[in-house]
Amino acid sequence: MKKLLLVLLLVCQGPAWAASASTWPMESFKGDLQNMPSLQNGFKLYANYCLGCHSLQFQRYERTADDLAIPHDIALKNLVFTGQKIGGLITNAMPRAASKDWFGASPPDLTMVTRVRSPEWVYNYLNTFYVDEDRPLGVNNKVFANVGMPNVLLELQGVQREVCAEGHCDHLAVDNGTGTMTTEEFKSATYDLTNFLYYVSEPSRLDRQRIGIYVLLFLIILGCFTYLLNREYWKDVGGH
Ligand code: HEC
Repeated sequence: MKKLLLVLLLVCQGPAWAASASTWPMESFKGDLQNMPSLQNGFKLYANYCLGCHSLQFQRYERTADDLAIPHDIALKNLVFTGQKIGGLITNAMPRAASKDWFGASPPDLTMVTRVRSPEWVYNYLNTFYVDEDRPLGVNNKVFANVGMPNVLLELQGVQREVCAEGHCDHLAVDNGTGTMTTEEFKSATYDLTNFLYYVSEPSRLDRQRIGIYVLLFLIILGCFTYLLNREYWKDVGGH
């Protein structure tokens, strides 16, 4: 029975592993949930460049705005483009069947993507779109081979191409002056986007970290009192 479960587990996980198995030298990624400007910028980029295709159907605008310290009126004016209310889930109107025809696969919901793939994978994915004339949309990706998603951040990053030497194409370079951002600016934008998706995959992680700080403070204060009390007791014992 145990074995059967294990096999089922392996079979279910198969496609995710297969797609993420790549020889691309991954750049590391470390999320930072205390960095509010980064999370806010990630949310803004997400609403502008991703939400049209990818919902976050387990996440509400209100909670996101509150967690990210964005006042509700500013969130409604600048981040909710769907005419929804602040209490609404972050959804879109992407038709599932039609989008499969358009892209070869429907854009999946991304609420859990950094847990299914890993934040590192998502970060590298967003940075490694490159020109590939053999693909229907003229674009491919280094960590998701033959991906159906268009290169939606092209205007920011510019035209990125493979650089090959001796048959190995393990380097990418952007054509000078084709994007509105420098390489560093683009890296920082994709960092913020990934950081935001990292937060979305488990919003309570933010709470836990905040609460954790209070718990530590409480323990330190309690420790001081315990120490003083201890000293008080021993003063009497040693004092005669
Ligand atoms: C025009 C529609 C469209 C837009 C806009 C778009 N995507 Fe996608 N995305 C897709 C499609 C389609 C797929 C599925 C690709 C496949 O399976 O081949 C996908 C796949 C993905 C995946 C891989 C999911 C998985 O685990 O398989 C990630 C991550 C992702 N998109 C992130 C983003 C982010 C971040 C943005 C915004 C910067 C974005 N996408 C904007 C269409 C879009």
